[in-house]
Amino acid sequence: MPAVISIANQKGGAGKTTVTMNLAGGLHEAGYRVLVIDADPQQSATKWRNRQEENQLGFDIISMARPGLHKDLPGMNLDYEIILIDCPPGLADSSGQGGITIGAVLASQFVLVPVQPTFLDYEASQMVLPLLQQVAAFRPDLQALIVVNRKPTNRSRLATEAREAAVAFFTSTEVSIRVLQAELSDRTAFKESPGTGQTILRYEPGSKGAEEVRQLTMEVLECLRVPARA
Ligand SMILES: Nc1ncnc2c1ncn2[C@@H]1O[C@H](COP(=O)(O)OP(=O)(O)O)[C@@H](O)[C@H]1O
Ligand SMILES: [Mg+2]
Repeated sequence: MPAVISIANQKGGAGKTTVTMNLAGGLHEAGYRVLVIDADPQQSATKWRNRQEENQLGFDIISMARPGLHKDLPGMNLDYEIILIDCPPGLADSSGQGGITIGAVLASQFVLVPVQPTFLDYEASQMVLPLLQQVAAFRPDLQALIVVNRKPTNRSRLATEAREAAVAFFTSTEVSIRVLQAELSDRTAFKESPGTGQTILRYEPGSKGAEEVRQLTMEVLECLRVPARA
């Protein structure tokens, strides 16, 4: 059985697709067979892949923007070690995208929530907690991981206190939550790479952003307890 991680946050623009694609690239680089399920009807991940005729990512993508992934995935017999599900924005909203996220989370052992380190983003992102609590009632093993994304590269309070603030905002007695030590900064290369059809690891392999993705990858692997590859 592959490890399944949903990347979710009802807030659009939090960095779900950026984190999904670069983490998938990091896991590929670390030697794992990785699949990204693009569960967003906007298909950002699929469009990223399709910028190049030949897949430049190192991992596969399939588009499955529909509710009920928890029912569909087990029967699909997918030959991957790790599956990442890029969720749409929105939770229990009238568009039905909430149903997509709920199915994705139910299919997962882990939910990775990218958040930008501002008060309003923490406030908005906190709205994911009731959904996680709902799912955790059926799946007590569900583990939520928070990752600070788009951290300013300066020494502002916003930057230095980002992780601490995230720890204060994301608390729950019903769901196990871990705020990751690894953080992604706000970097131009993260914005540029999708247009090239590559992850930052291929677009700028020696960059600070690529190094941050590798750190994130290592920490996620540690949470998954999948043995690291030499
Ligand atoms: N760490 C980052 N540094 C710079 N830009 C980022 C970063 N993360 C996301 N972005 C940019 O923010 C926008 C929204 O990110 P995206 O991953 O599409 O969010 P979501 O999938 O949650 O809607 C995109 O333009 C993306 O390039
Ligand atoms: Mg997205």
